Amino acid sequence: MEEIEIIKPDDWHVHFRDNDILKAVVPETTRQFARAIVMPNLTPPILNAKQAIEYKKRIKKHIPKSDDFKPLMTIYLTENTNKNELKDAYKNGSVFAVKLYPAGATTNSESGVKNIYNIMHVLETMAEINMPLLIHGEVTDKDIDIFDREKEFIDRYLDFICKELPELKITLEHITTSDSVSYVKEANENLCASITPHHLALNRNDLLAGGIRPHNYCLPILKSETHRQTLIKSAISGDPKFFLGTDTAPHLVYDKENSCGCAGIFNATYCLSILAQIFENEKALNKLESFTSLNGAKHYNIKPNKEKIKLIKSSKPIIFKNTLDVNEHKIQIFDPTFHVFWNVL
Ligand code: NCD
Ligand code: ZN
Repeated sequence: MEEIEIIKPDDWHVHFRDNDILKAVVPETTRQFARAIVMPNLTPPILNAKQAIEYKKRIKKHIPKSDDFKPLMTIYLTENTNKNELKDAYKNGSVFAVKLYPAGATTNSESGVKNIYNIMHVLETMAEINMPLLIHGEVTDKDIDIFDREKEFIDRYLDFICKELPELKITLEHITTSDSVSYVKEANENLCASITPHHLALNRNDLLAGGIRPHNYCLPILKSETHRQTLIKSAISGDPKFFLGTDTAPHLVYDKENSCGCAGIFNATYCLSILAQIFENEKALNKLESFTSLNGAKHYNIKPNKEKIKLIKSSKPIIFKNTLDVNEHKIQIFDPTFHVFWNVL
């Protein structure tokens, strides 16, 4: 039997939600990951340290006793964010990073930033104290094609931010295009990018060809095969600029299979199995640990985890569970449909 051992991974981008969904999804992440950056796009969003601390307490209630897991909290940046409060929250350790959503870019982003120039003073403070900025990098203008929104964000805003504040630590999250890969590679060491398992596993045909598949709908939207290939190359390269952020984003089946379905793929359950398979298919299993367990920690200036996990390859493909129960409702579990042989021990 083939097996590999790697340092326990971290998930640098997770949506835990609240209430019943929170209870159902937290253990799916804590089983495999030692730490995760928790997104603040609840309704209402997490806007300050007090709310982040309360949310962290609610998350901790649902971590199984057997799992040693640390949630890293974020604040949702608005044009009213108070930079002195932010400074205190970072210095006393209650908040790990700040999330920038352009207003209207994705699920629960209505309170996001409308005009980037209005938050530059906050970013300046963050640069001074070394607090990371996490960016959903898509413009939201109706006249920009949904497939071009990531590149347009780089051209219009990211480049501006990076030039104004080269010392600001930035993660361009869940990148989906060759344009982002090139931009991040060429930028200074403070700009890194996270990549999701679903953007490594799927292209836009998996969303749109042969019938529309709402469970493969996410933002940024799936792109063409050429872009997917570039993402794979970056993930398996070992380049410290690229690391895992699953963007696991649970919605109830009812809200996905809808005339106006929600964006988000719930991929926590088989995330590491799927990644191991993708890396093995590329003959790059030896680079899995850098992507899942080393590069992100380096970017965020924290030590890699001490514990290790084992992955074992079975002779038959794993049979995926379809759904996760939330009381009488269900969340669809991400299944890339190719064969996956790797189990996390
Ligand atoms: C996320 C969600 O549902 O909160 N959806 C998604 O498609 N990724 C929001 C986000 O990260 O864009
Ligand atoms: Zn997300």
